[in-house]
Amino acid sequence: MASDLHTILCDRLGCRFPVVQTAMGWVADARLVAATCNAGGFGFLAAATIEPGKVEAAMRDVKARTNKPFGVNFHMFQPNAEEVLEAIISHKVRAVSYGRGPDARTIGRLKAAGVVCMPTVGAVRHAVKAVELGADIVTIQGAEGGGHTGAVPTTILLPQVLDAVSVPVVAAGGMCDGRSLAAALAWGAAGIAMGTRFLLTSDSPVARGALDRYLAADDPALIRVTTAVDGLPQRFIENDELRRLEAMSLPARLAMSARHALSWGRQAGLGPLAMARLGLRLATSGDNSFAQTVMAPNLPVLVQRGMVEGDADHGLLPSGQVAAVIDRLESCEELIARIVREANERLRALGAPTAAG
Ligand SMILES: Cc1cc2nc3c(=O)[nH]c(=O)nc-3n(C[C@H](O)[C@H](O)[C@H](O)COP(=O)(O)O)c2cc1C
Repeated sequence: MASDLHTILCDRLGCRFPVVQTAMGWVADARLVAATCNAGGFGFLAAATIEPGKVEAAMRDVKARTNKPFGVNFHMFQPNAEEVLEAIISHKVRAVSYGRGPDARTIGRLKAAGVVCMPTVGAVRHAVKAVELGADIVTIQGAEGGGHTGAVPTTILLPQVLDAVSVPVVAAGGMCDGRSLAAALAWGAAGIAMGTRFLLTSDSPVARGALDRYLAADDPALIRVTTAVDGLPQRFIENDELRRLEAMSLPARLAMSARHALSWGRQAGLGPLAMARLGLRLATSGDNSFAQTVMAPNLPVLVQRGMVEGDADHGLLPSGQVAAVIDRLESCEELIARIVREANERLRALGAPTAAG
């Protein structure tokens, strides 16, 4: 399929189409990343939720499934951040994505190794700061996006950031089809990035019980932001567990966090001392209040129960509002081919020049 949807993003990331699959904890695994890359997009492996010691194996798994370049997402506050950084460099990973986190020295180290640095931001001031720290490309995530999210919708944040920075900008938050891509390009973005839409593909590892709940969601207002889980604004499909958490008293929520911290620590291979060190790092990072640090363990335990075990009532389902307009699973191949076809159709209808598709 010929396409002049080719943008600078394709050159920087080494992909055929300007369509990015973003990192999602417990979702963006080797299979989803490789399926995206083989379909002409660019996938980010979610390394922040891979157990210490298993990150390199996951990268090798991606390489066994695709010969295309791919990316890795990480958090500086994850206990094995150095292990992930070393693996990214030694495996010559094409790009990294991150949120709050790496300082200018770490970004410099990645860039010196030829890694494209592509943070996700939810506010214009964060975009400016990210570029000052060395970002090569910025992904904006509008408030409608899934996972931790900001307050500014894509329609406002995208032009704001396009005006504020001189690096290529990628649009995320509510993107799902060829109309999204055509609109983002018309705005001046270099491409689109999608989380929820890729979560809802037949290449996604999410358990069937959870997928069914995502597909059934049809009211964007019920895919809403709460701070009840880890103290930070994060968007979920409303369900029994979310309502239960929100109704809990603070002492009850803290007691639950303590139980979750123990089980999450065991799973991550951390003893009590390592857990205390991690808590101290979070508490002193300047970004997290004490309550956020104490509640942080709720997230991995409850999200795994929802997404990995497929318990859509007692676990949590992080999601963008766009899940409300998605009602079927496609493979990454079908999804990206459709997006490209629709985007070309839209651009042609507008009189924009496109290659014969
Ligand atoms: C289930 C889920 C898990 C996510 N986990 C992460 C994560 O671990 N790291 C991260 O940087 N962003 C994470 N995000 C945010 C996505 O990478 C992406 O920015 C967002 O989904 C874009 O909005 P959309 O859902 O409307 O496409 C997550 C999103 C979802 C839906």
